[in-house]
Amino acid sequence: MNKQKAGLFIAFEGGDGAGKSTQAARLAAALESTGHTVLRTREPGGTPIGEKLRSLVLDHGNGEIDAHTEALIFAASRAAHATQVIRPALGRGEIVLTDRYIDSSVAYQGAGRNLGQDAVQSLNEWATSGLQPHLTVLLDVDPQLGRRRRTAGQAAEDRLESEADEFHTRIRSAFLDLAAGRPASYLVLPAHLPVEELAAQILARVKTLLDAPIPEATHAPAPQLAVPEAAAPEAASDGGGA
Ligand code: TYD
Repeated sequence: MNKQKAGLFIAFEGGDGAGKSTQAARLAAALESTGHTVLRTREPGGTPIGEKLRSLVLDHGNGEIDAHTEALIFAASRAAHATQVIRPALGRGEIVLTDRYIDSSVAYQGAGRNLGQDAVQSLNEWATSGLQPHLTVLLDVDPQLGRRRRTAGQAAEDRLESEADEFHTRIRSAFLDLAAGRPASYLVLPAHLPVEELAAQILARVKTLLDAPIPEATHAPAPQLAVPEAAAPEAASDGGGA
């Protein structure tokens, strides 16, 4: 049986310290043990250019990175990732697990940096030509628990992680709003549950997807970037509809 033919695209999302990487690794191992081909990847990153962009945007010491620049760097990394890695793997019928995708930009840059969630969503739909995950696993983490987890031991926080709790609270709400808007495409789980329990619930949900016919991952038509009217005067000249 070739249920995997169309490929399956799953994104893990959540605040810093939610445990996404642990759960992505657990799911990959479980799926591989039953014969599936799994590609694990992450954002920002996942390609050579993406990994360079990752250091640029996350490391301290690269000078000022204003919010628009930050959003465009994440989107550039994602464009390369979607084109060079995710689409080809889905085309081969693989299961792609990405640690973060578009929702992270909508939450961190749209809500966290106040760039506007719709604007950031459009930018990223354009960057990925509308490539959407079949399922997004949202690990909902209390910002204080997230901070305790990620600073446990040693770890210095990166540029985004080191933002105030209030920033992380805005991000948490934005993730939950995204999930509430399209509940059928999300599995939302409290990140404080035991690792085993989370892994079991995620695997159970993914199995239901594998048992059903999988549609192609690209649902959205390739979107147009909204250009402000003043920047495109000739567009308004033609009377009539549209
Ligand atoms: P992540 O890889 O989850 O961090 P780590 O590997 O250190 O646990 O994410 C890196 C940071 O980048 C995280 O703080 C979230 C942020 N980020 C955005 O702000 N926007 C984005 O679009 C993405 C993908 C990540």
